[in-house]
Amino acid sequence: MSDKVYIFDTTLRDGEQVPGCQLNTIEKIEVALALEELGVDVLEAGFPISSPGDFNSVVEVSKVITNPTICALTRAVQKDIEVAADALKFAKRGRIHTGIGSSDIHIINKLHTTREKILEKAAWATKFARNFVDDVEFFCEDAGRADLAFLAKMVETVIANGATVVNIPDTTGYCLPDQYHEKIKYLMNNVPNIDKAILSCHCHNDLGMATANSIAGLRAGARQVEVTMNGIGERAGNTSLEEVAMVIRSHQQELNLYTDINIKKIYPTSRLITRLMRMPVQPNKAIVGRNAFSHSSGIHQDGVLKNRENYEIIDPHDVGVPESLIVLTARSGRAALKHRLEKIGFPMEKEELDEMYTRFLDLADTKKEVYDEDLLEMLGHSKDNRIYQLESLEVSSTDKESIANVSLVKNEQRFSSEARGNGPVDAMIKAIDNIVGQQVKLEEYLVQAITGGSNDVGKVHIQVSHDGVFHYGFGSDTNIVLASAKAYIDALNKI
Ligand code: KIV
Ligand code: ZN
Repeated sequence: MSDKVYIFDTTLRDGEQVPGCQLNTIEKIEVALALEELGVDVLEAGFPISSPGDFNSVVEVSKVITNPTICALTRAVQKDIEVAADALKFAKRGRIHTGIGSSDIHIINKLHTTREKILEKAAWATKFARNFVDDVEFFCEDAGRADLAFLAKMVETVIANGATVVNIPDTTGYCLPDQYHEKIKYLMNNVPNIDKAILSCHCHNDLGMATANSIAGLRAGARQVEVTMNGIGERAGNTSLEEVAMVIRSHQQELNLYTDINIKKIYPTSRLITRLMRMPVQPNKAIVGRNAFSHSSGIHQDGVLKNRENYEIIDPHDVGVPESLIVLTARSGRAALKHRLEKIGFPMEKEELDEMYTRFLDLADTKKEVYDEDLLEMLGHSKDNRIYQLESLEVSSTDKESIANVSLVKNEQRFSSEARGNGPVDAMIKAIDNIVGQQVKLEEYLVQAITGGSNDVGKVHIQVSHDGVFHYGFGSDTNIVLASAKAYIDALNKI
């Protein structure tokens, strides 16, 4: 029998602490509902004493969520615990997550106290929180750098006072996987009342080892893991939910563990959080990055086309990613070109394919990526006849409204439209929609600066869906509205 790992999601608490990622209450409810659908067991909705906004979010999230336990963070302080209990009053199942520093660094330099006083406070806070809820989690902050014997005493004390879960955070992301494993193993073997509580892994990613450490902790006996979607969080972030869920699933036999995560929802949830938190995911991020299922070298493309499993350990469909991408570049081989030609309706074999491949390489040497429309043009289906091209774009903006005038050309015919929006990009997209008249949904819009200066080139990635199929567009320019228009038209032309 394999053991269940409880997924404790802290996207709305540790994740939301990141500057620029703040959400309003409505957005938090949207995220919470998505996390519930994703199948998380515990949803940390905020730190109620920290602000009226956080308090309100815990109240409102508690009202709409049915299945996951709603958790509220506190310090080991009376007022914090009372306010958290109040914020949880509508939760079907509420948990108070209280705690205090456990390493000497924190005890001496931050809390200016002694180990004895810390133990007293920990015991008191746990007992006090149990007056309000049956489910109390205690966090031993900076456990990653704490003395093991003292940590064991602390864990024993809080369990004796009613803690149901004890969190062993590697707050500074300091541990090596085998060190974190040893820490959890030591607690499992040396805390006399350990069978009365669950140990939880809460790892930060300062050395890029958050997922490895969390898995090491689970292998040593912890049964809850604290994660955020896309790994967002303080500094280098927290353990990422999607990575833990997929490690456990990919190594189910060996780990003998499972989660209740509905993995099909991973990618859509990741997109939602990227959009709402305006926090782009790095392209090479495991599972949810733009390149996670994209193949560009000829050898890999050939292998994937023969059998996906040659170069993919996860079927992208399993995690809700629309499809693997075969990116045509100068490093692509005949197999990739043949595949792409078939997809756009031009199957080719032998000499015909060889001849097309030579021409393709000539073009690919001058271009980073070869798109379907480039192939069509090579085949004599001039892109000018098939697709929209941007002729002109004019945008004016005030702090209240923006107006865009767009002209596109198709089949040598010119089409123009004017539209208003709440910003220049919104106005531009509405003007283009007026011209194109397609039922298109903008799924993702991402702008990235390359070097960071104000004179920088902005790269825009856009994802649209049409009749349930996803299409991607890319544009770059020093003018980000123009880059956005190029990217949007690029995506529309792929429909
Ligand atoms: O990283 C940490 O120690 C925390 C605690 C508040 C649980 O986020
Ligand atoms: Zn944390």
